[in-house]
Amino acid sequence: MDNSAIIDKLNDCLRHEWTGVAQYAQAGFVVSGLWRDVYADMFYDSAKESFGHAKKVGEKIVALGGVPTVERNPIKQSDDLMEILGHALEFESKAVKMYNEALVVAEGDRALVVFLEDILKEEQDGVDELTRILRNPQGSAAGSKKSTKAG
Ligand SMILES: [Fe+2]
Repeated sequence: MDNSAIIDKLNDCLRHEWTGVAQYAQAGFVVSGLWRDVYADMFYDSAKESFGHAKKVGEKIVALGGVPTVERNPIKQSDDLMEILGHALEFESKAVKMYNEALVVAEGDRALVVFLEDILKEEQDGVDELTRILRNPQGSAAGSKKSTKAG
């Protein structure tokens, strides 16, 4: 069985995960200010999530007879928190796109589809969380701007 198409696609995903390890770790290093405590941990956790995905994908590539890439794409850097969060949303959105593309190639291989869907779900969770943060960065409870007047 020729696995080269799915191996190539998985290596695209792996390259993106390596990018995430470096980009999120760098964000954790440099984030400063009042919110450093919160966001440094969040970025380090995201770097760990990317490494976790890289581990799964790398092992799957070997199982399919391929060689996992050690390359990564250029990372986006900033020391401005809002800009870092914007880069993070871009990164997670691209991950969703890449795993969706891999799913198209994996069609027909049920186990591989489930494997990719599990990761895809976590990437989408990242998009959702960052979207909620960036929608209202100053923070307010949902619906708090609504009028409380009755009648
Ligand atoms: Fe990931």
